[in-house]
Amino acid sequence: MDNRKRNLLEQETQRKYMLLLFQTGLKEIWTDQYRLKVLVLYLLTALLFSIIRPWDLAYSGPDIFDAASRIAFSLCFPILVFGGLAVLIMWAGTPSRAKSIQNNLQRIGLVNHAGEVPLLVTVRQDETDDAHSKITVLEFLACGVPKSVWEQKSADIETALNVHIADIQESDGKRRIRLFTVPAKSGLPKMLRWKDEYLQSDFPSCRLVLGESLLGTVSLDLNLIPHVLLGGGTGSGKSVLLKLMLMQCLKQPNINVTIADFKGGVDFGGSWRKHPNCKLILDRDTLIAYLDSVAEKLEQRKDLLGKAECTNIYEYNSHESIPMDRIVFAVDEVAEILDKTGLTKAEKEQVARIENRLSTIARQGRAFGIHLFLSTQRPDANILSGQIRNNIGYRICGRADNVLSMIILDNTDASNRIPHDAQGRFLTGDGTVFQAYWFDDAKEMF
Ligand SMILES: Nc1ncnc2c1ncn2[C@@H]1O[C@H](COP(=O)(O)OP(=O)(O)O)[C@@H](O)[C@H]1O
Ligand SMILES: [Mg+2]
Repeated sequence: MDNRKRNLLEQETQRKYMLLLFQTGLKEIWTDQYRLKVLVLYLLTALLFSIIRPWDLAYSGPDIFDAASRIAFSLCFPILVFGGLAVLIMWAGTPSRAKSIQNNLQRIGLVNHAGEVPLLVTVRQDETDDAHSKITVLEFLACGVPKSVWEQKSADIETALNVHIADIQESDGKRRIRLFTVPAKSGLPKMLRWKDEYLQSDFPSCRLVLGESLLGTVSLDLNLIPHVLLGGGTGSGKSVLLKLMLMQCLKQPNINVTIADFKGGVDFGGSWRKHPNCKLILDRDTLIAYLDSVAEKLEQRKDLLGKAECTNIYEYNSHESIPMDRIVFAVDEVAEILDKTGLTKAEKEQVARIENRLSTIARQGRAFGIHLFLSTQRPDANILSGQIRNNIGYRICGRADNVLSMIILDNTDASNRIPHDAQGRFLTGDGTVFQAYWFDDAKEMF
């Protein structure tokens, strides 16, 4: 693109931006006392000048030049007043530090193909009802820079603007971008202890509370999010988060939990084993028998729901006197049950059967209250088949390299947005970073 064309585009954008600032200014003036006072002062001064007419006072005699300048002054005066008024309104509509924020974005290369930087339109405080959040929302004219680019560059934007970004949203179709930010020094804490009071008040409930993002509590409702895929490198906090979810399930009277742990169940000690609604599976044969029984249950529930003319377990349980329980199947490392390397032919067939059953549950479990919580740290696409992965809509990834982040979230955001030493810090598929609650299952279980 040549310079002339670039200048034309720039001028067009500037014109649009000025018009927008003017419109915003008109609104701001009526809502902001300070700006309204400045406007009133300006209008009073203009009125005073038009009454005193200082250019008339300067006219002392029948000098032809004085007469001409007097006429010129009195003609120009209204134009100057209206011009000044327009500038004042645009000033009222211009967010403070707009220029420096735009310059900072330019420095990190957040520009469109014409080299134009997104333009800041409004800055407002967004105080959610959560005590942790005091969010400033910056709204930009995107100028053709798509949301995906803002997301990719979010770490750079955070440094450039000295903030943490809690969320990035589109508005006005795709024309505008909203950044939900908090000051850099008030980011997420490194540790948030679990408290039993976080359990949902509408007990029994299908909502599991995971942790806190800059925008507030992060939770999931099993009615809407039936399955969870959890990824992250060693020590990222997967096991703690998985246990946090399972512990909340077990606090509900109507959820049965089964955990496959081929390492001998060492990760799930006394309190898990003693719980009447929790079962551990330690070997492949038992797992196959269990998954077969779940598949059978799924078919039975299909019939039951069909006869009761309900489309899902939620509807069924709100009508029928004997509610169906929910079934949660969890694995802390899916590779343990799905990796075929080094297995005999017969064992491989068994693994294929497990895989097949998990696919069926992933595809059909939602309506029938059968849930999968799968966790993995192995960046190997072959382990987790597309069939299973694609049917697990809710993905969470802790600190991870590009490959693992890609497998879990279908993008490399976890490796960019989660610090490499973070523990218990996760990114959800919808782009929310949160600190998971930490709890010690040895002490705080039941
Ligand atoms: N939510 C959390 N908040 C703070 N620290 C955590 C959290 N979750 C885990 N950790 C720390 O990270 C360590 C590893 O956690 P773990 O769940 O075993 O990781 P992974 O299963 O991913 O290997 C824990 O021992 C704990 O010290
Ligand atoms: Mg672990």
